[in-house]
Order: sequence, then C-alpha cells, then structure tokens
Amino acid sequence: MIMVFDWGVTNAIHFGNGVLKDLPEIIKAYHAKDVLFITDPGLMKIGYGERAMQMLEHAGLRCYAFTEVQPDPTDTVIDEILRRTEGRKFDVIVALGGGSSIDTAKAVNIMLHNPRPITQYDGFNTVPNHGMPLICIPTTAGTGSESTPVCVIKDTAKKKKMVILGMNVGATHAIIDPELTYGLPSRITAATGMDALAHCMESYIATNTNVISRQNSIKGMNLIYNNLLTCYRDPKNAEARYNQMLGSTFAALSFGSTNLGLCHAIAMPLGAFYGISHGDGNAVCLPETMAYNAKVVAGQFVEMGAAMGMGEAKDLTADKVIENLYKLAADLEIPKLAAYGIGKDKFTDELIDAILMEGALTTNPKQPTSEDLMVILNSL
Ligand SMILES: [Fe+2]
Repeated sequence: MIMVFDWGVTNAIHFGNGVLKDLPEIIKAYHAKDVLFITDPGLMKIGYGERAMQMLEHAGLRCYAFTEVQPDPTDTVIDEILRRTEGRKFDVIVALGGGSSIDTAKAVNIMLHNPRPITQYDGFNTVPNHGMPLICIPTTAGTGSESTPVCVIKDTAKKKKMVILGMNVGATHAIIDPELTYGLPSRITAATGMDALAHCMESYIATNTNVISRQNSIKGMNLIYNNLLTCYRDPKNAEARYNQMLGSTFAALSFGSTNLGLCHAIAMPLGAFYGISHGDGNAVCLPETMAYNAKVVAGQFVEMGAAMGMGEAKDLTADKVIENLYKLAADLEIPKLAAYGIGKDKFTDELIDAILMEGALTTNPKQPTSEDLMVILNSL
C-alpha cells in the first residue's frame, strides 16, 4: 500500500523489569532540583508512592507531592493542584500511576506553561508552548498515556471528556517497569488490558492508519491477546506481565499517530455522563463495537485474527475473530453495563449526540446512525 502519513514519537522509553531505579539518574540529566510528584491515594497506600519519593529525596532532590489524583481527572482537580502549587518553582514533573495520574500531570504541565484555563485546549495541536520535562511511570498496562501525545481531562461544565492532542502534550520520558503491575487488582488488569487491546484494534482499522502504526498494532495485539488472561488469573506471572506491558506500549505507539474508533467514542461519553472508568468503559464496549466494524472491514479482522495467533488467515473468518473476542471478555469476567449502574434508561438523546460528536468516531470504518448506536448500547 503506497501512502502519505504522519507518525511521531514524543518521548524516550525506558523499558524493563527494575528500570524504576533509573528515575533519579534521568532527572539529574536535566540538572533539576525541584520535583512536582503526582500520584494517587491507592499507590500511596501500597507504598509505591513513598518508594518513588524516597528515591527522589535520596538523590538530593526536593519533592512536592500531590497524592490525591482521582480516576478520570477533571478540570477542577487541575485547578486545585495549580492553586496548591502557586508560587512554587519546579524543574521536573514525575507522574506515577495509571492514565489518571499521567493525564493529570500532563494537564498541570500544560497549565504551568500556557494561558489558563485547560478547557480551551480540547482538540489537535491547540497547546502553543511545551512544558517542563515530564517523566511518567505507569502502574497499569493499558492507557499507554506515558507514550502518547494525548491527555484526556473532563470538562465538568460541558460534561465532556476533552482530548488534548499534539506535540506539546506528551511526556519527555516513560519509565515502564512491568514489575509495578504485579500488585494491580485482577479487575483493573482485565479492564485496562482490554483498553490496550482496543487501542491496537481501533488503530489498525482506523481510516487514517499508516504502515508504522499497523506494525505496532500487530505486535501489540498479539502480546495482549496471548498474555492478558494469564495476567488476570496469575497476577504475579512475570513473563505475562512483561508481555502485557510491552503490548500496551506497542498499542500506544500505534494509536498515538492514528486515532481510535467506535469503542472509545462510546466509552468516553459513558464515562463523562455516568462515571464509568476509561478502562471499564472500553472493556464493556470492545466486543460489540468490533462486531459492528467487522461487518464492514471483514478482511482486516481476518488479518488481525491471524496477527493474534487465532489461526492461519486462510482458515479464519471475521465472525470467528469476533467470537474469540467475546470469549476473551467472558474469560476476563467483563461485566455488562448495568453492573456499573448504567441501565437502559440512561441511553438518552444527549448521550447519543455526544457519541456522534466524538473525535474518535471520525476515523471509524463506518459512521453509525443514532439507531445503530441505540442497538449497540442496548446490547452492552
Ligand atoms: Fe483507551
């Protein structure tokens, strides 16, 4: 296929078991003294936050910590961090956690170097100035936010998850240490892992895909499809955790230069309206939205099935690939939407309109109608 495309890498990636130890050395390369450290209460509780802060302090760095990141961050939380840090000077930001901590750190970095408020930056290449060095340390193998130029923040007034995307958004370094996912609860392992699989599959079939992203998609979906269930059932399986983390990294390197699709286009408004987390929302939506797309680009689903090791392309059908996807979701015990308190009465015209307005939908192989969306929602 001959094509013209854009593909970009925003940051350095340090990957492997134990690489967390390199954090002080990476910071010192910037001749930094003052660090803004951002994490969540759960990681403080299990000691990961403390451990990272001690590493910084032992290296002679001054550390100011914000440890109250909540799932799916909002513009109001960003304002609160800015208020608390008013008048302080930082040389580097370090984020430890899942997508919520990392996106919070990205947004704070944007706000410390650009005019406020954050809500004006929804969209592509909207942030004029690059921030300070930002080092992201993921503790989930799903979001990939540590390696993408994307920041998702909820605009509370508009009840919308903004997608801030561009070269001035991403981290400068990702320290990706699979050992940090060993303690992840199984339910979160499953949901975030399905989110990463969605990144690979949606990017692969996106109408603006490209040859480099596709190679990353293929590698990512193979690793995730063949390791996620082991991570779920055997959380301390080092090889599976390593492969799953590598898979989510390939996923990030795939969709960071393309786009997503119908699965994310439904999951994001569901999160903005009803509070379901990003991982849970995508996990619930993935099989059904892929079944919708498989009717349109069946050949690409056969390619993906072969890439995941489901069989030889000549023996596979798109239906078989979808069947395997449903089976994976069932094995991972992904619940229905109702389990999150989102009953059929929540499928309002306002929700449908929000889905139709999602940027992720623009590159989906088929543009759904309102009626199509209602059928999909009713099956979730
Ligand atoms: Fe995602």
